[in-house]
Amino acid sequence: MARQIENIVITGFSGTGKSVVARRVAASLGWACVDTDELIGGRAGRPIAEIFAQDGEERFRELEREVVREVSERRCCVIALGGGAVVDPRNREVVSRNGMLVCLEARSDTINGRLFRGEAGVGDTEVRPLLAGDDRSERVKRLKAERQSAYAEVDWTVHTDYLDVGGVAAEVVRAWELLGPLRAGRVRVEGCGAMQERVVSCGVTRPPSDYRILVGYGLVDRLGWEMRELGLSGTTVVVSDDAVFPQYGARVQNALESEGFAVKPWVVPRGEGTKCLAWAERTYDFMVEQRVERGDCVVALGGGMVGDLAGFVAATFLRGISLVQVPTSLVAMVDASIGGKVGVNHPLGKNLIGAFYQPKLVVVDPGCLGTLPGRELRSGWAEVVKYGAIQDRELFEVLGSSAESLMELETEAVIEAVARSAAIKARIVEEDEREAGKRMILNYGHSIGHGLEAATGYSQFLHGEAVAVGMTGAAMLSERMGLLPAEAARRQQRVLKRFGLPTGFTGVGVGDVVKAMELDKKVREGSLRWVLLEDIGRSVVRRDVPRDMVLGVLEDLSRG
Ligand SMILES: NC(=O)c1ccc[n+]([C@@H]2O[C@H](COP(=O)([O-])OP(=O)(O)OC[C@H]3O[C@@H](n4cnc5c(N)ncnc54)[C@H](O)[C@@H]3O)[C@@H](O)[C@H]2O)c1
Repeated sequence: MARQIENIVITGFSGTGKSVVARRVAASLGWACVDTDELIGGRAGRPIAEIFAQDGEERFRELEREVVREVSERRCCVIALGGGAVVDPRNREVVSRNGMLVCLEARSDTINGRLFRGEAGVGDTEVRPLLAGDDRSERVKRLKAERQSAYAEVDWTVHTDYLDVGGVAAEVVRAWELLGPLRAGRVRVEGCGAMQERVVSCGVTRPPSDYRILVGYGLVDRLGWEMRELGLSGTTVVVSDDAVFPQYGARVQNALESEGFAVKPWVVPRGEGTKCLAWAERTYDFMVEQRVERGDCVVALGGGMVGDLAGFVAATFLRGISLVQVPTSLVAMVDASIGGKVGVNHPLGKNLIGAFYQPKLVVVDPGCLGTLPGRELRSGWAEVVKYGAIQDRELFEVLGSSAESLMELETEAVIEAVARSAAIKARIVEEDEREAGKRMILNYGHSIGHGLEAATGYSQFLHGEAVAVGMTGAAMLSERMGLLPAEAARRQQRVLKRFGLPTGFTGVGVGDVVKAMELDKKVREGSLRWVLLEDIGRSVVRRDVPRDMVLGVLEDLSRG
Protein backbone atom coordinates (compact mmCIF):
# COMPACT_ATOMS: atom_id res chain seq x y z
CA MET A 1 0.00 0.00 0.00
CA ALA A 2 1.25 3.50 -0.77
CA ARG A 3 2.83 5.35 2.09
CA GLN A 4 0.54 7.97 3.54
CA ILE A 5 1.77 11.19 5.05
CA GLU A 6 -0.03 11.78 8.30
CA ASN A 7 2.70 13.68 10.13
CA ILE A 8 5.43 16.15 9.26
CA VAL A 9 8.73 15.32 10.93
CA ILE A 10 11.36 18.03 11.12
CA THR A 11 15.00 17.22 11.59
CA GLY A 12 18.25 19.10 11.11
CA PHE A 13 21.30 20.26 12.99
CA SER A 14 21.13 22.49 16.10
CA GLY A 15 20.50 26.08 15.19
CA THR A 16 18.41 25.33 12.11
CA GLY A 17 15.21 26.20 13.96
CA LYS A 18 13.44 22.84 14.16
CA SER A 19 11.29 23.59 17.22
CA VAL A 20 10.19 27.06 16.29
CA VAL A 21 9.52 26.09 12.66
CA ALA A 22 7.57 23.00 13.79
CA ARG A 23 5.33 25.20 15.93
CA ARG A 24 4.77 27.62 13.06
CA VAL A 25 3.95 24.82 10.58
CA ALA A 26 1.57 23.22 13.09
CA ALA A 27 -0.19 26.54 13.63
CA SER A 28 -0.61 27.12 9.92
CA LEU A 29 -2.06 23.62 9.31
CA GLY A 30 -4.04 23.58 12.56
CA TRP A 31 -2.13 20.43 13.59
CA ALA A 32 -0.69 19.39 16.92
CA CYS A 33 3.02 19.92 17.56
CA VAL A 34 5.48 17.93 19.61
CA ASP A 35 9.18 18.37 20.27
CA THR A 36 10.92 15.12 21.17
CA ASP A 37 13.66 16.84 23.20
CA GLU A 38 11.06 18.73 25.22
CA LEU A 39 9.14 15.52 25.79
CA ILE A 40 12.23 13.64 26.96
CA GLY A 41 13.29 16.50 29.25
CA GLY A 42 9.77 16.86 30.62
CA ARG A 43 9.46 13.17 31.39
CA ALA A 44 12.88 12.94 32.98
CA GLY A 45 12.25 16.15 34.92
CA ARG A 46 15.73 17.34 33.87
CA PRO A 47 17.14 19.31 30.96
CA ILE A 48 18.71 17.30 28.12
CA ALA A 49 22.17 18.55 29.09
CA GLU A 50 21.75 17.04 32.53
CA ILE A 51 20.58 13.69 31.15
CA PHE A 52 23.68 13.64 28.95
CA ALA A 53 25.94 14.59 31.83
CA GLN A 54 24.46 12.25 34.41
CA ASP A 55 23.33 9.21 32.39
CA GLY A 56 25.42 9.46 29.26
CA GLU A 57 24.53 9.76 25.57
CA GLU A 58 23.58 6.11 25.22
CA ARG A 59 20.82 6.38 27.82
CA PHE A 60 19.58 9.59 26.19
CA ARG A 61 19.37 7.86 22.79
CA GLU A 62 17.38 5.03 24.36
CA LEU A 63 14.86 7.50 25.80
CA GLU A 64 14.81 9.25 22.46
CA ARG A 65 14.01 6.02 20.56
CA GLU A 66 11.09 5.33 22.90
CA VAL A 67 9.69 8.82 22.46
CA VAL A 68 10.17 8.78 18.67
CA ARG A 69 8.31 5.49 18.39
CA GLU A 70 5.50 6.83 20.52
CA VAL A 71 5.01 10.16 18.75
CA SER A 72 5.09 8.48 15.34
CA GLU A 73 1.81 6.80 16.22
CA ARG A 74 0.13 10.20 16.14
CA ARG A 75 -1.64 11.75 13.21
CA CYS A 76 -1.74 15.28 11.95
CA CYS A 77 1.18 16.17 14.13
CA VAL A 78 4.30 18.18 13.38
CA ILE A 79 7.17 16.48 15.16
CA ALA A 80 10.44 18.30 15.86
CA LEU A 81 13.16 15.69 16.29
CA GLY A 82 16.34 16.18 18.26
CA GLY A 83 19.25 16.87 15.89
CA GLY A 84 20.87 13.44 16.33
CA ALA A 85 17.74 11.30 16.22
CA VAL A 86 17.77 10.60 12.47
CA VAL A 87 21.28 9.22 12.66
CA ASP A 88 19.73 6.08 14.09
CA PRO A 89 18.18 4.20 11.13
CA ARG A 90 15.55 2.73 13.47
CA ASN A 91 14.22 6.21 14.19
CA ARG A 92 14.28 7.11 10.50
CA GLU A 93 12.35 4.00 9.62
CA VAL A 94 9.71 4.57 12.30
CA VAL A 95 9.01 8.21 11.47
CA SER A 96 9.03 7.63 7.71
CA ARG A 97 6.22 5.09 7.85
CA ASN A 98 3.58 7.80 8.04
CA GLY A 99 5.58 10.99 8.17
CA MET A 100 7.15 13.34 5.65
CA LEU A 101 10.71 13.82 6.85
CA VAL A 102 12.03 17.32 6.29
CA CYS A 103 15.59 18.40 7.04
CA LEU A 104 16.32 22.02 7.85
CA GLU A 105 19.79 22.80 6.53
CA ALA A 106 22.20 25.63 7.20
CA ARG A 107 25.87 26.18 6.51
CA SER A 108 28.21 25.65 9.45
CA ASP A 109 29.06 29.34 9.68
CA THR A 110 25.35 30.25 9.75
CA ILE A 111 24.87 27.73 12.57
CA ASN A 112 27.85 29.11 14.48
CA GLY A 113 26.48 32.60 14.10
CA ARG A 114 23.06 31.60 15.40
CA LEU A 115 24.26 29.38 18.24
CA PHE A 116 27.27 31.24 19.54
CA ARG A 117 27.14 34.80 18.28
CA GLY A 118 23.41 35.38 18.84
CA GLU A 119 22.87 36.30 15.21
CA ALA A 120 19.29 36.62 14.07
CA GLY A 121 17.73 33.73 12.22
CA VAL A 122 15.52 30.76 12.69
CA GLY A 123 17.78 28.96 15.19
CA ASP A 124 17.19 28.80 18.91
CA THR A 125 20.20 29.66 20.98
CA GLU A 126 20.37 26.70 23.32
CA VAL A 127 23.77 25.08 22.99
CA ARG A 128 23.48 21.32 22.72
CA PRO A 129 25.60 19.16 25.02
CA LEU A 130 27.57 17.69 22.14
CA LEU A 131 28.60 21.19 21.08
CA ALA A 132 29.57 22.49 24.51
CA GLY A 133 33.21 23.10 25.35
CA ASP A 134 36.13 24.64 23.49
CA ASP A 135 36.56 25.00 19.77
CA ARG A 136 32.84 24.98 19.19
CA SER A 137 32.87 25.90 15.54
CA GLU A 138 35.18 22.99 14.80
CA ARG A 139 32.79 20.70 16.71
CA VAL A 140 29.85 21.98 14.68
CA LYS A 141 31.69 21.23 11.44
CA ARG A 142 32.75 17.75 12.52
CA LEU A 143 29.44 16.68 14.03
CA LYS A 144 27.52 18.05 11.07
CA ALA A 145 29.77 16.17 8.64
CA GLU A 146 29.20 12.98 10.63
CA ARG A 147 25.43 13.36 10.42
CA GLN A 148 25.23 14.57 6.85
CA SER A 149 24.61 11.16 5.29
CA ALA A 150 21.60 10.70 7.59
CA TYR A 151 20.29 14.18 6.80
CA ALA A 152 20.49 13.25 3.13
CA GLU A 153 17.99 10.40 3.67
CA VAL A 154 14.97 12.69 4.01
CA ASP A 155 12.01 13.51 1.77
CA TRP A 156 12.70 17.21 1.58
CA THR A 157 15.40 19.71 2.50
CA VAL A 158 14.92 23.39 3.22
CA HIS A 159 17.97 25.64 3.23
CA THR A 160 17.41 28.12 6.01
CA ASP A 161 20.44 30.42 5.64
CA TYR A 162 18.53 33.29 4.07
CA LEU A 163 15.05 32.68 5.44
CA ASP A 164 13.22 33.73 8.57
CA VAL A 165 10.93 31.43 10.59
CA GLY A 166 7.87 32.25 8.49
CA GLY A 167 9.80 31.65 5.28
CA VAL A 168 11.09 28.25 6.41
CA ALA A 169 7.64 27.20 7.69
CA ALA A 170 6.09 28.22 4.36
CA GLU A 171 8.65 26.04 2.53
CA VAL A 172 7.76 23.06 4.72
CA VAL A 173 4.05 23.54 4.05
CA ARG A 174 4.81 23.87 0.34
CA ALA A 175 6.70 20.57 0.45
CA TRP A 176 3.73 18.95 2.14
CA GLU A 177 1.45 20.30 -0.55
CA LEU A 178 3.76 19.17 -3.35
CA LEU A 179 3.85 15.67 -1.94
CA GLY A 180 0.04 15.72 -2.27
CA PRO A 181 -0.30 12.27 -3.83
CA LEU A 182 1.13 10.75 -0.68
CA ARG A 183 -0.88 12.97 1.59
CA ALA A 184 -3.58 11.77 3.92
CA GLY A 185 -6.84 13.69 4.44
CA ARG A 186 -6.00 16.91 6.19
CA VAL A 187 -7.54 16.99 9.62
CA ARG A 188 -7.83 20.15 11.64
CA VAL A 189 -9.09 20.31 15.18
CA GLU A 190 -10.60 23.61 16.17
CA GLY A 191 -12.31 24.82 19.31
CA CYS A 192 -16.04 25.38 18.94
CA GLY A 193 -17.44 26.86 22.14
CA ALA A 194 -17.33 24.33 24.91
CA MET A 195 -17.55 21.46 22.46
CA GLN A 196 -14.58 20.21 20.58
CA GLU A 197 -15.06 20.41 16.87
CA ARG A 198 -13.30 18.25 14.38
CA VAL A 199 -12.73 19.82 11.07
CA VAL A 200 -11.82 17.20 8.53
CA SER A 201 -10.63 19.00 5.50
CA CYS A 202 -10.28 16.83 2.47
CA GLY A 203 -8.48 18.17 -0.54
CA VAL A 204 -10.37 15.84 -2.84
CA THR A 205 -8.16 15.47 -5.91
CA ARG A 206 -7.38 18.58 -7.86
CA PRO A 207 -8.82 22.01 -7.22
CA PRO A 208 -11.49 23.23 -7.79
CA SER A 209 -13.07 20.02 -6.44
CA ASP A 210 -11.42 20.57 -3.09
CA TYR A 211 -13.77 20.81 -0.16
CA ARG A 212 -13.90 20.62 3.58
CA ILE A 213 -15.87 18.27 5.75
CA LEU A 214 -16.74 19.87 9.05
CA VAL A 215 -17.74 17.58 11.90
CA GLY A 216 -19.06 19.16 15.08
CA TYR A 217 -22.01 19.33 17.42
CA GLY A 218 -24.19 22.35 16.77
CA LEU A 219 -22.82 22.95 13.29
CA VAL A 220 -26.31 22.94 11.77
CA ASP A 221 -26.79 26.35 13.38
CA ARG A 222 -23.62 27.64 11.75
CA LEU A 223 -24.45 26.42 8.27
CA GLY A 224 -25.19 29.85 6.82
CA TRP A 225 -21.99 31.31 8.19
CA GLU A 226 -19.88 28.46 6.84
CA MET A 227 -21.51 28.77 3.43
CA ARG A 228 -21.03 32.50 3.30
CA GLU A 229 -17.35 32.04 4.23
CA LEU A 230 -17.08 29.98 1.04
CA GLY A 231 -18.51 32.82 -0.99
CA LEU A 232 -21.92 31.20 -1.50
CA SER A 233 -24.96 33.46 -1.53
CA GLY A 234 -28.41 33.95 -3.07
CA THR A 235 -31.24 31.44 -3.13
CA THR A 236 -30.76 28.13 -1.38
CA VAL A 237 -33.04 25.21 -2.14
CA VAL A 238 -33.08 23.01 0.96
CA VAL A 239 -33.94 19.50 -0.22
CA SER A 240 -35.03 17.27 2.64
CA ASP A 241 -37.46 14.47 3.41
CA ASP A 242 -40.60 14.45 5.51
CA ALA A 243 -38.90 12.71 8.45
CA VAL A 244 -35.88 15.01 8.63
CA PHE A 245 -37.27 18.42 7.71
CA PRO A 246 -39.68 18.63 10.71
CA GLN A 247 -36.70 17.92 12.99
CA TYR A 248 -34.04 20.23 11.56
CA GLY A 249 -35.68 22.33 8.85
CA ALA A 250 -36.38 25.35 11.05
CA ARG A 251 -32.84 25.45 12.44
CA VAL A 252 -31.33 25.19 8.98
CA GLN A 253 -33.68 27.84 7.66
CA ASN A 254 -32.77 30.22 10.52
CA ALA A 255 -29.07 29.59 10.09
CA LEU A 256 -29.29 30.39 6.39
CA GLU A 257 -31.65 33.35 6.59
CA SER A 258 -29.62 35.00 9.32
CA GLU A 259 -26.71 35.08 6.85
CA GLY A 260 -28.81 36.57 4.08
CA PHE A 261 -29.76 33.47 2.07
CA ALA A 262 -33.27 33.23 0.59
CA VAL A 263 -34.42 29.75 1.60
CA LYS A 264 -36.74 27.60 -0.52
CA PRO A 265 -37.53 24.32 1.26
CA TRP A 266 -38.36 21.32 -0.93
CA VAL A 267 -39.55 18.36 1.13
CA VAL A 268 -39.90 14.94 -0.51
CA PRO A 269 -41.35 11.70 0.89
CA ARG A 270 -38.90 9.64 2.97
CA GLY A 271 -37.67 6.31 1.61
CA GLU A 272 -35.61 4.88 -1.22
CA GLY A 273 -38.61 5.01 -3.59
CA THR A 274 -38.14 8.78 -3.86
CA LYS A 275 -34.63 8.39 -5.27
CA CYS A 276 -35.85 8.22 -8.84
CA LEU A 277 -36.04 10.27 -12.02
CA ALA A 278 -39.68 11.21 -11.36
CA TRP A 279 -38.74 12.94 -8.10
CA ALA A 280 -35.69 14.50 -9.72
CA GLU A 281 -38.02 15.94 -12.34
CA ARG A 282 -40.42 17.31 -9.71
CA THR A 283 -37.45 18.90 -7.99
CA TYR A 284 -36.34 20.54 -11.26
CA ASP A 285 -39.91 21.83 -11.74
CA PHE A 286 -39.83 23.41 -8.29
CA MET A 287 -36.46 25.00 -8.97
CA VAL A 288 -37.61 26.41 -12.29
CA GLU A 289 -40.71 27.86 -10.59
CA GLN A 290 -38.49 29.42 -7.93
CA ARG A 291 -36.28 30.90 -10.65
CA VAL A 292 -33.16 29.28 -9.28
CA GLU A 293 -30.06 30.52 -11.10
CA ARG A 294 -26.54 29.28 -11.71
CA GLY A 295 -25.12 31.19 -8.73
CA ASP A 296 -27.64 29.69 -6.29
CA CYS A 297 -27.21 26.50 -4.36
CA VAL A 298 -28.77 23.28 -3.17
CA VAL A 299 -28.48 22.10 0.43
CA ALA A 300 -29.13 18.38 0.88
CA LEU A 301 -30.48 17.97 4.41
CA GLY A 302 -31.08 14.31 5.15
CA GLY A 303 -29.80 10.78 4.80
CA GLY A 304 -28.10 9.23 1.80
CA MET A 305 -31.32 9.12 -0.20
CA VAL A 306 -31.74 12.90 -0.01
CA GLY A 307 -28.01 13.44 -0.56
CA ASP A 308 -27.97 11.33 -3.72
CA LEU A 309 -31.18 12.81 -5.15
CA ALA A 310 -30.38 16.44 -4.29
CA GLY A 311 -26.81 15.95 -5.47
CA PHE A 312 -28.00 14.56 -8.79
CA VAL A 313 -30.34 17.50 -9.26
CA ALA A 314 -27.60 19.99 -8.33
CA ALA A 315 -25.19 18.30 -10.75
CA THR A 316 -27.58 18.54 -13.67
CA PHE A 317 -29.74 21.66 -13.12
CA LEU A 318 -28.38 24.45 -15.35
CA ARG A 319 -25.40 22.12 -15.95
CA GLY A 320 -24.49 22.19 -12.28
CA ILE A 321 -25.08 24.52 -9.36
CA SER A 322 -23.37 24.55 -5.96
CA LEU A 323 -24.15 21.69 -3.63
CA VAL A 324 -23.74 21.56 0.16
CA GLN A 325 -24.29 18.27 1.96
CA VAL A 326 -25.77 18.31 5.46
CA PRO A 327 -26.02 14.59 6.22
CA THR A 328 -28.32 13.57 9.07
CA SER A 329 -28.06 9.76 9.06
CA LEU A 330 -24.89 7.96 10.14
CA VAL A 331 -24.55 6.32 6.70
CA ALA A 332 -24.68 9.73 5.07
CA MET A 333 -22.28 11.31 7.60
CA VAL A 334 -19.50 8.78 7.14
CA ASP A 335 -20.12 7.67 3.59
CA ALA A 336 -22.78 8.99 1.20
CA SER A 337 -22.11 12.73 1.61
CA ILE A 338 -18.38 12.37 0.88
CA GLY A 339 -16.86 11.54 -2.46
CA GLY A 340 -19.26 13.08 -4.94
CA LYS A 341 -21.25 10.07 -6.12
CA VAL A 342 -24.76 11.35 -6.79
CA GLY A 343 -27.60 9.68 -8.60
CA VAL A 344 -31.01 8.08 -8.73
CA ASN A 345 -32.29 4.54 -9.16
CA HIS A 346 -33.69 3.04 -12.36
CA PRO A 347 -36.53 0.51 -12.16
CA LEU A 348 -33.99 -2.09 -13.34
CA GLY A 349 -31.25 -1.30 -10.86
CA LYS A 350 -30.02 0.87 -8.01
CA ASN A 351 -27.91 3.95 -8.72
CA LEU A 352 -27.87 3.30 -12.46
CA ILE A 353 -28.23 6.99 -13.35
CA GLY A 354 -25.83 9.44 -11.84
CA ALA A 355 -22.67 11.46 -11.89
CA PHE A 356 -19.54 12.30 -9.96
CA TYR A 357 -20.25 15.76 -8.61
CA GLN A 358 -18.36 17.08 -5.61
CA PRO A 359 -20.09 19.26 -3.01
CA LYS A 360 -18.68 22.63 -2.04
CA LEU A 361 -18.90 21.71 1.62
CA VAL A 362 -20.03 18.89 3.89
CA VAL A 363 -21.39 19.90 7.31
CA VAL A 364 -21.76 16.98 9.71
CA ASP A 365 -23.59 17.64 12.97
CA PRO A 366 -23.61 14.37 14.93
CA GLY A 367 -26.28 15.92 17.17
CA CYS A 368 -28.74 14.93 14.43
CA LEU A 369 -28.16 11.26 15.22
CA GLY A 370 -30.28 11.68 18.34
CA THR A 371 -33.49 11.43 16.28
CA LEU A 372 -32.35 8.72 13.87
CA PRO A 373 -34.33 5.48 14.34
CA GLY A 374 -32.30 2.84 16.23
CA ARG A 375 -32.20 0.36 13.37
CA GLU A 376 -30.90 3.02 10.96
CA LEU A 377 -28.24 3.95 13.50
CA ARG A 378 -27.09 0.35 13.91
CA SER A 379 -26.97 -0.02 10.15
CA GLY A 380 -24.71 3.04 9.98
CA TRP A 381 -22.26 1.58 12.46
CA ALA A 382 -21.66 -1.25 9.99
CA GLU A 383 -20.03 1.27 7.63
CA VAL A 384 -17.82 2.51 10.45
CA VAL A 385 -16.75 -1.06 11.30
CA LYS A 386 -15.97 -1.44 7.59
CA TYR A 387 -13.54 1.50 7.69
CA GLY A 388 -11.82 0.02 10.71
CA ALA A 389 -11.56 -3.38 9.04
CA ILE A 390 -10.21 -2.19 5.69
CA GLN A 391 -8.05 0.71 6.72
CA ASP A 392 -7.75 1.65 10.36
CA ARG A 393 -6.94 -0.95 12.98
CA GLU A 394 -6.97 1.66 15.75
CA LEU A 395 -10.53 2.69 14.86
CA PHE A 396 -11.48 -0.98 14.83
CA GLU A 397 -10.08 -1.41 18.36
CA VAL A 398 -12.00 1.67 19.54
CA LEU A 399 -15.20 0.23 18.06
CA GLY A 400 -14.58 -3.04 19.86
CA SER A 401 -14.02 -1.36 23.20
CA SER A 402 -16.61 1.44 22.97
CA ALA A 403 -19.54 -0.12 21.13
CA GLU A 404 -21.94 0.61 23.99
CA SER A 405 -20.88 4.27 24.38
CA LEU A 406 -21.20 4.71 20.63
CA MET A 407 -24.65 3.15 20.51
CA GLU A 408 -25.68 5.46 23.33
CA LEU A 409 -24.30 8.36 21.31
CA GLU A 410 -21.78 9.51 23.87
CA THR A 411 -20.53 12.75 22.40
CA GLU A 412 -16.78 12.35 22.58
CA ALA A 413 -16.82 8.77 21.33
CA VAL A 414 -19.19 9.63 18.48
CA ILE A 415 -17.28 12.65 17.27
CA GLU A 416 -14.05 10.66 17.24
CA ALA A 417 -15.56 7.74 15.30
CA VAL A 418 -17.47 9.93 12.84
CA ALA A 419 -14.59 12.34 12.15
CA ARG A 420 -12.16 9.49 11.73
CA SER A 421 -14.43 7.60 9.36
CA ALA A 422 -15.12 10.73 7.34
CA ALA A 423 -11.37 11.33 7.08
CA ILE A 424 -10.80 7.77 5.85
CA LYS A 425 -13.47 8.09 3.19
CA ALA A 426 -12.05 11.50 2.23
CA ARG A 427 -8.56 10.09 1.93
CA ILE A 428 -9.65 7.16 -0.21
CA VAL A 429 -11.73 9.24 -2.62
CA GLU A 430 -8.99 11.84 -2.76
CA GLU A 431 -6.73 9.15 -4.15
CA ASP A 432 -9.29 7.66 -6.49
CA GLU A 433 -12.19 9.96 -7.27
CA ARG A 434 -13.69 7.77 -9.98
CA GLU A 435 -13.34 4.34 -8.48
CA ALA A 436 -10.57 3.26 -10.82
CA GLY A 437 -8.54 1.61 -8.08
CA LYS A 438 -8.22 2.31 -4.38
CA ARG A 439 -11.87 3.31 -3.94
CA MET A 440 -12.73 -0.29 -4.70
CA ILE A 441 -11.81 -1.26 -1.11
CA LEU A 442 -14.84 0.67 0.07
CA ASN A 443 -16.85 -2.19 -1.38
CA TYR A 444 -15.68 -4.53 1.37
CA GLY A 445 -18.68 -6.65 2.34
CA HIS A 446 -20.68 -5.29 -0.58
CA SER A 447 -20.58 -8.25 -3.00
CA ILE A 448 -22.54 -10.53 -0.68
CA GLY A 449 -24.32 -7.51 0.84
CA HIS A 450 -25.71 -6.35 -2.51
CA GLY A 451 -26.58 -9.92 -3.42
CA LEU A 452 -28.60 -10.29 -0.22
CA GLU A 453 -30.34 -6.95 -0.65
CA ALA A 454 -31.27 -7.71 -4.26
CA ALA A 455 -32.33 -11.31 -3.55
CA THR A 456 -34.73 -10.03 -0.88
CA GLY A 457 -36.09 -7.22 -3.03
CA TYR A 458 -34.48 -4.59 -0.76
CA SER A 459 -37.13 -5.31 1.84
CA GLN A 460 -35.55 -7.51 4.48
CA PHE A 461 -32.19 -5.89 5.17
CA LEU A 462 -31.11 -2.31 5.57
CA HIS A 463 -27.96 -1.65 3.56
CA GLY A 464 -25.65 -1.67 6.61
CA GLU A 465 -27.20 -4.91 7.86
CA ALA A 466 -26.58 -6.59 4.51
CA VAL A 467 -23.03 -5.22 4.48
CA ALA A 468 -22.48 -6.63 7.98
CA VAL A 469 -23.40 -10.10 6.68
CA GLY A 470 -21.23 -9.42 3.62
CA MET A 471 -18.25 -8.43 5.77
CA THR A 472 -18.65 -11.61 7.78
CA GLY A 473 -18.62 -13.57 4.51
CA ALA A 474 -15.64 -11.63 3.15
CA ALA A 475 -13.67 -12.29 6.35
CA MET A 476 -14.51 -16.01 6.11
CA LEU A 477 -13.30 -16.00 2.50
CA SER A 478 -10.13 -14.16 3.55
CA GLU A 479 -9.54 -16.85 6.15
CA ARG A 480 -10.19 -19.68 3.68
CA MET A 481 -7.87 -18.06 1.12
CA GLY A 482 -5.16 -18.22 3.80
CA LEU A 483 -4.92 -14.45 4.08
CA LEU A 484 -6.48 -13.75 7.45
CA PRO A 485 -6.02 -15.55 10.78
CA ALA A 486 -9.23 -17.19 12.01
CA GLU A 487 -9.10 -15.16 15.21
CA ALA A 488 -9.24 -11.86 13.27
CA ALA A 489 -12.33 -13.04 11.37
CA ARG A 490 -13.97 -13.98 14.67
CA ARG A 491 -13.06 -10.62 16.18
CA GLN A 492 -14.79 -8.81 13.36
CA GLN A 493 -17.87 -10.95 13.90
CA ARG A 494 -17.88 -10.13 17.63
CA VAL A 495 -17.62 -6.38 16.95
CA LEU A 496 -20.51 -6.50 14.46
CA LYS A 497 -22.63 -8.39 16.97
CA ARG A 498 -21.91 -5.81 19.66
CA PHE A 499 -23.51 -3.22 17.39
CA GLY A 500 -26.54 -5.47 17.09
CA LEU A 501 -25.76 -6.28 13.45
CA PRO A 502 -26.51 -9.59 11.73
CA THR A 503 -23.64 -11.90 10.76
CA GLY A 504 -25.71 -14.44 8.85
CA PHE A 505 -29.10 -14.81 7.19
CA THR A 506 -32.08 -17.12 7.09
CA GLY A 507 -35.07 -17.50 4.80
CA VAL A 508 -33.16 -16.54 1.63
CA GLY A 509 -31.97 -19.12 -0.89
CA VAL A 510 -28.20 -19.25 -1.43
CA GLY A 511 -28.89 -19.70 -5.17
CA ASP A 512 -30.85 -16.44 -5.27
CA VAL A 513 -28.05 -14.57 -3.53
CA VAL A 514 -25.46 -15.96 -5.95
CA LYS A 515 -27.59 -15.05 -8.96
CA ALA A 516 -28.04 -11.52 -7.69
CA MET A 517 -24.34 -11.21 -6.91
CA GLU A 518 -23.33 -12.34 -10.36
CA LEU A 519 -25.66 -9.82 -11.96
CA ASP A 520 -24.16 -7.07 -9.86
CA LYS A 521 -22.53 -4.26 -11.78
CA LYS A 522 -19.27 -4.90 -9.96
CA VAL A 523 -18.76 -8.16 -11.86
CA ARG A 524 -16.08 -7.36 -14.42
CA GLU A 525 -14.87 -9.59 -17.23
CA GLY A 526 -16.78 -12.53 -15.86
CA SER A 527 -15.06 -12.67 -12.49
CA LEU A 528 -16.11 -11.10 -9.23
CA ARG A 529 -13.60 -8.79 -7.60
CA TRP A 530 -13.42 -9.47 -3.90
CA VAL A 531 -12.20 -7.06 -1.28
CA LEU A 532 -10.58 -9.28 1.32
CA LEU A 533 -8.62 -8.69 4.50
CA GLU A 534 -4.97 -9.52 5.05
CA ASP A 535 -5.29 -8.27 8.59
CA ILE A 536 -7.62 -6.02 10.54
CA GLY A 537 -6.93 -2.62 8.98
CA ARG A 538 -5.39 -4.02 5.78
CA SER A 539 -7.38 -4.95 2.69
CA VAL A 540 -6.58 -6.40 -0.71
CA VAL A 541 -8.59 -6.87 -3.93
CA ARG A 542 -8.60 -10.42 -5.37
CA ARG A 543 -10.16 -11.90 -8.48
CA ASP A 544 -9.10 -15.49 -7.86
CA VAL A 545 -11.61 -16.53 -5.22
CA PRO A 546 -13.00 -19.90 -6.34
CA ARG A 547 -16.76 -19.99 -6.90
CA ASP A 548 -17.05 -23.15 -4.77
CA MET A 549 -15.44 -21.37 -1.87
CA VAL A 550 -17.97 -18.54 -2.19
CA LEU A 551 -20.83 -21.06 -2.27
CA GLY A 552 -19.43 -22.74 0.85
CA VAL A 553 -19.27 -19.43 2.71
CA LEU A 554 -22.82 -18.51 1.63
CA GLU A 555 -24.06 -21.91 2.86
CA ASP A 556 -22.41 -21.23 6.24
CA LEU A 557 -23.86 -17.72 6.41
CA SER A 558 -27.33 -19.05 5.55
CA ARG A 559 -27.37 -21.00 8.80
CA GLY A 560 -28.06 -17.65 10.50
N1 LIG B 1 -23.35 8.50 -2.76
C1 LIG B 1 -22.72 7.58 -2.09
O1 LIG B 1 -21.50 7.48 -2.12
C2 LIG B 1 -23.52 6.65 -1.23
C3 LIG B 1 -22.89 5.85 -0.29
C4 LIG B 1 -23.68 5.04 0.53
C5 LIG B 1 -25.05 5.05 0.39
N2 LIG B 1 -25.63 5.84 -0.55
C6 LIG B 1 -27.09 5.88 -0.71
O2 LIG B 1 -27.63 6.38 0.51
C7 LIG B 1 -28.92 5.81 0.71
C8 LIG B 1 -28.94 5.21 2.08
O3 LIG B 1 -28.69 6.23 3.01
P1 LIG B 1 -29.43 6.28 4.42
O4 LIG B 1 -29.20 5.00 5.12
O5 LIG B 1 -29.08 7.54 5.07
O6 LIG B 1 -30.96 6.23 3.98
P2 LIG B 1 -32.11 7.33 3.99
O7 LIG B 1 -31.67 8.61 3.46
O8 LIG B 1 -33.28 6.69 3.33
O9 LIG B 1 -32.39 7.52 5.55
C9 LIG B 1 -32.89 6.44 6.30
C10 LIG B 1 -34.13 6.88 7.10
O10 LIG B 1 -33.71 7.68 8.18
C11 LIG B 1 -34.41 8.92 8.16
N3 LIG B 1 -33.51 9.91 8.75
C12 LIG B 1 -32.33 10.33 8.28
N4 LIG B 1 -31.74 11.13 9.15
C13 LIG B 1 -32.58 11.25 10.20
C14 LIG B 1 -32.52 11.94 11.43
N5 LIG B 1 -31.45 12.63 11.79
N6 LIG B 1 -33.58 11.86 12.25
C15 LIG B 1 -34.67 11.11 11.92
N7 LIG B 1 -34.77 10.41 10.80
C16 LIG B 1 -33.73 10.47 9.94
C17 LIG B 1 -34.80 9.15 6.73
O11 LIG B 1 -35.93 9.97 6.66
C18 LIG B 1 -35.10 7.73 6.28
O12 LIG B 1 -36.40 7.40 6.63
C19 LIG B 1 -29.13 4.81 -0.41
O13 LIG B 1 -29.89 5.41 -1.41
C20 LIG B 1 -27.72 4.55 -0.91
O14 LIG B 1 -27.70 4.15 -2.26
C21 LIG B 1 -24.90 6.65 -1.35
